[in-house]
Amino acid sequence: MFAPADTLNEANVALTELMALTPPLEPKRRGTLLVVDDEEGPRLSLRLIFKDQYDLLMAEDGPAAIALAQEHPIDVAVLDIRMAGMSGIEVLERLRFVQPGIEAVMMTAFETADTMRQALRLRAADYINKPFDIATIRNAVGGAMQRRMLESEIHSSAEKVHALLGELQNQKVEEQIARTRGDIYASIIHDINGPLTVVAGFIQLLNKKLNQVSNLEVEDLEFIRERLNVIERQISNCIEITRRYLGFLRHQPGEPQAAGVCQLVRDLEQLVRVHPAIQDNEFSVAPPATDICVKLNGTDVIQILLNLTVNAFQCLPQPHRVAVGVEILRAPLELAIFEDGPNDRYLNLEGVLNRTPLVKFWIADTGPGIPPEILPKIFQPYFTTKGPRQGTGLGLNIVHRLVKEGKGALHVHTQAGEGSTFTVYLPGSELEK
Ligand SMILES: Nc1ncnc2c1ncn2[C@@H]1O[C@H](COP(=O)(O)OP(=O)(O)OP(=O)(O)O)[C@@H](O)[C@H]1O
Ligand SMILES: [Mg+2]
Repeated sequence: MFAPADTLNEANVALTELMALTPPLEPKRRGTLLVVDDEEGPRLSLRLIFKDQYDLLMAEDGPAAIALAQEHPIDVAVLDIRMAGMSGIEVLERLRFVQPGIEAVMMTAFETADTMRQALRLRAADYINKPFDIATIRNAVGGAMQRRMLESEIHSSAEKVHALLGELQNQKVEEQIARTRGDIYASIIHDINGPLTVVAGFIQLLNKKLNQVSNLEVEDLEFIRERLNVIERQISNCIEITRRYLGFLRHQPGEPQAAGVCQLVRDLEQLVRVHPAIQDNEFSVAPPATDICVKLNGTDVIQILLNLTVNAFQCLPQPHRVAVGVEILRAPLELAIFEDGPNDRYLNLEGVLNRTPLVKFWIADTGPGIPPEILPKIFQPYFTTKGPRQGTGLGLNIVHRLVKEGKGALHVHTQAGEGSTFTVYLPGSELEK
């Protein structure tokens, strides 16, 4: 509820800190005064009065004044109202067009209500009668100059604040990129861990086999060849995973290679059967009746399914059942009836490509279920209920990201004491004959 105020406070603190880092204000500059009068006498006396205080620009008529304003920044203009050609009021109007911030002091020998009104309309700082005395003109020009200086200081402070805010924004973006990089590196480690576990297990198996036999028979060679094939595939998976993330870091998410569902399910089963998480749990896979392609990289689909299956094994230390199934949907999802609740959570409904054919994978367990207060948190990065050395809490976050990138959707249905089912919907395409 207090978020806006907090955000504002944070922004203020950051701004104050940044301001403290910026160099102190430059010393006050001399103001520039433009004198516009078609009579030489007043021009000379004004020059004498102000030459030591300000940088002076002298003009004997309107066009000369405007030409000067186009070349020099001017703070205050002293203008005679009655001049041959362009009147002081007209000159001021045009000067303001060139430099809107100019302050003006108007002078006239013939004061009329009309000229007064016009001067006021143009926000002249002061209005002086000719002939003027030194104190009056000093006061008028000094006041106008002060106002102008103050205004330009405020303006430059505002510009600085703007620049600082820009800087702050850049820093935030940089921090965000650095954080994302950290998450990606953590994800690579998490993802590669799966295939490496399988590789390590198979190498152990091979070693055992080689130590047991003194002479290699044909079936031993077959055994070794098969295991080496799995190892080779897993190593390719590791390479594919690093490629995927590095591509992401370079913002080039390569074209997905459509993967056949039947092969994917076979690969998953092979991986799961040798995964240490399977332990004494019951595991079944039901391949689809007909084959179809998923419009996603095969490694990504396996990554999604393996993460969900391993979670299903790990949700309960006692032996329980885990089942994986696939179905091909020939009708779009009825997104309107998908609604979050204490036992249900949906993800990426807004981003799903709801066009047939769709491939529906489900992973169901007979574990303890997920409590309603935990359900909204399980997809957050680093959220885990496992011990610190047992889970990184990245698995479901990676699943979510992959499903989103693949324009799919995800549904978790869970019931305390009965178990959980994770359903993944992914865009499919017919197999090319
Ligand atoms: N099938 C499930 N049954 C019950 N709880 C689950 C299930 N799947 C996930 N969870 C809950 O969601 C949490 C987050 O899962 P996630 O896969 O992101 O991380 P993790 O499994 O804890 O760690 P890691 O994936 O690194 O091994 C788990 O700690 C668990 O509490
Ligand atoms: Mg996990």
